[in-house]
Amino acid sequence: MRIYIETYGCQMNDYDSRMVSSMLTAAGHTVATDPRRADAVIVNTCSVRERAEDRVLGRLRQLRGLVEPGAVIGVIGCVAQRMGDDLLRPTHGVDFVVGTDQYERLPETVANAHAGSRSVSTRVAHDQTYDARPRPTEASTCDFVSVMRGCDNYCSYCIVPYVRGRERSRPVERIIEETRSLIELGARDVTFIGQNVNSYRDGGVDFAGLLRVANDVPALARIRFATSHPKDLTDAVIDAVGDLDSVCEHVHLPVQSGSDAILKAMNRSYTRDDYLRLVDRLRTKMPGVALTTDVIVGFPGETQEDYLATLSLMDEVRFDSAFMFRYSVRTGTNAAKLVDDVPEDVKLERLESVISFQRVATEEINRRLVGTVQEVLVEGPSERNTSLLFGKTRTAKVVIFDGPSAPAGGLEPVLITEASAWTLRGTHTPAG
Ligand code: SAH
Ligand code: SF4
Ligand code: F3S
Repeated sequence: MRIYIETYGCQMNDYDSRMVSSMLTAAGHTVATDPRRADAVIVNTCSVRERAEDRVLGRLRQLRGLVEPGAVIGVIGCVAQRMGDDLLRPTHGVDFVVGTDQYERLPETVANAHAGSRSVSTRVAHDQTYDARPRPTEASTCDFVSVMRGCDNYCSYCIVPYVRGRERSRPVERIIEETRSLIELGARDVTFIGQNVNSYRDGGVDFAGLLRVANDVPALARIRFATSHPKDLTDAVIDAVGDLDSVCEHVHLPVQSGSDAILKAMNRSYTRDDYLRLVDRLRTKMPGVALTTDVIVGFPGETQEDYLATLSLMDEVRFDSAFMFRYSVRTGTNAAKLVDDVPEDVKLERLESVISFQRVATEEINRRLVGTVQEVLVEGPSERNTSLLFGKTRTAKVVIFDGPSAPAGGLEPVLITEASAWTLRGTHTPAG
């Protein structure tokens, strides 16, 4: 069968889609690039905010009108796990539903659905790490390896622990083996992903230990990781990031709010001061470290003072960049029991002001790089202008530059000549 996979949500979903694709290919199916010419369409979905979910449901209806008669449509991922049976209601036009721990059933489920049997598999398996999956067969210059699945933190606003299950780490050997396979296929920059990678543990190896092992993998130029929960970012991890050559000086450290009252209501287990001390420790160890974050505005009970505390924290830290969201109620979470009392227009106003604040900060931080030479890992020609090259700095900033053509995967010295909030421009500068 020709199978088309469409993916929404975070890096975990991108990663899972690729894994699912390799499972289906190993079972004899082929991957389609157009839903109109597929026997089965699989949509890998995100539940993190109401809008993400609405978008998926809208897209499912649209797909039903697009696919060939006889083609089947399946939902996997976080919405599948959350809605289960509900997705088989006729309005959604769905033939099968497979939750986040049941992807091994997909080859069989797709075949059954095509033969006319609709099904839902959303059983939770707290030990599922998919370590029996086929080896990767292709890689990008910058690629990802999942080091853990699930989350046990239960931040009060968040649906992830309910749709991804309990936290479980993959064995070190499997992570290193997969990293090596990706390198053989051309990867040079590998990001270790998980909802909270700092609580990684395999026997006696914690996350700092994993970074140390990975640092010894030959031809792995850069190691990155996401996401770090502030409560679990230990000195050992900070030291590892600072000391290990391949580990990039970039930490994505979601703060969510700058107000202690809101942090407490969010069940984040740290205070504003704890967070600022952590930032201090990171910057003391690595003066050039890039810090990025996630922020939520409009959490239940957020007063103007609470919101201003978030803004002042952003000003104190000066993040390199931030993902900013307005609070969205997720049924079943603890925060859903609170009154969603910040009016929508106030949420939007606060969101717009944090976004414009951050845009100015990012631009100012990027401008400071003008005139410096940065090590850029080449990813290929720039999409907009193929005579230019595209790559990233160790601190994950996008650089578009000119110079003699260099192959993807090369590390090139680039003189930064211009900077905006989105990209850096530069020219290749000969070494020495
Ligand atoms: N595990 C990661 C990311 C989880 S989801 C972490 O802990 O940081 C990514 C981001 O979405 C979160 O950091 C948070 O800022 C945002 N988010 C999660 N649930 C949300 C909700 N109900 N409303 C608005 N934003 C939310
Ligand atoms: Fe959600 Fe919190 Fe877990 Fe991140 S750490 S996935 S925000 S519950
Ligand atoms: Fe969304 Fe699921 Fe990721 S809810 S953010 S796709 S873990």
